[in-house]
Amino acid sequence: MSIIAPSILSANFAALAEDIKNVETAGADWIHIDVMDGHFVPNLTFGPLVVNAVRSYTKLTFDVHLMIERPELYISEFIAAGADRITVHAEACVHLHRVIHMIKEAGLPAGVALNPATPLNVIENVLEDLDLVLIMTVNPGFGGQKFIPQSLEKLRQLRGILEARGLNNMHVQVDGGINSTTAQLVREAGANVLVAGNAVFTHKDRAAAIASLR
Ligand code: DX5
Ligand code: ZN
Repeated sequence: MSIIAPSILSANFAALAEDIKNVETAGADWIHIDVMDGHFVPNLTFGPLVVNAVRSYTKLTFDVHLMIERPELYISEFIAAGADRITVHAEACVHLHRVIHMIKEAGLPAGVALNPATPLNVIENVLEDLDLVLIMTVNPGFGGQKFIPQSLEKLRQLRGILEARGLNNMHVQVDGGINSTTAQLVREAGANVLVAGNAVFTHKDRAAAIASLR
């Protein structure tokens, strides 16, 4: 069964707590929180203050996706604000191994995200340390973009590597352009955690939207 993680990037920021409660009731598993710094990606969203402000409105896992440069400077703040798991971008970390271990030493599961153009081999030497690999299925920065079909082959390759290494508990997450059609394709290619922004929040009936992804 897939884990469905609605991305609040597509929520109503003026009623964020309500939207989060609403998708929890509708059957969401995790809340995906897209943090953007205007440097690593060409968009700005929110920081730890906003994460903390909505923390008490749900018991769901806060899945924090850091699309920021030098994420190591902010990890402890996001944890204090209520992050339950943290994913950093391989492209944003000069010392990726060190950053992964900062997250793990703080007691959180660590994830690494790869942009569409980044090959799988950049995480080859840290795979055993990870709890989650995020294969970006769009270029990060905005909601509502079109799914990049080459991601499917990358997912299949990743599944092959994980199987060969016996890493069967690794979460394989996808993010960007996920709807009921692409959800089926990424699942077949090996993804088990599906992030969806527009496909959930543009629907009035969020329960139906989540069910159709699952
Ligand atoms: C992209 C973000 C995604 C985005 C997905 O930069 O990381 O989480 O919100 O949005 P949709 O599902 O609308 O493509
Ligand atoms: Zn994301």
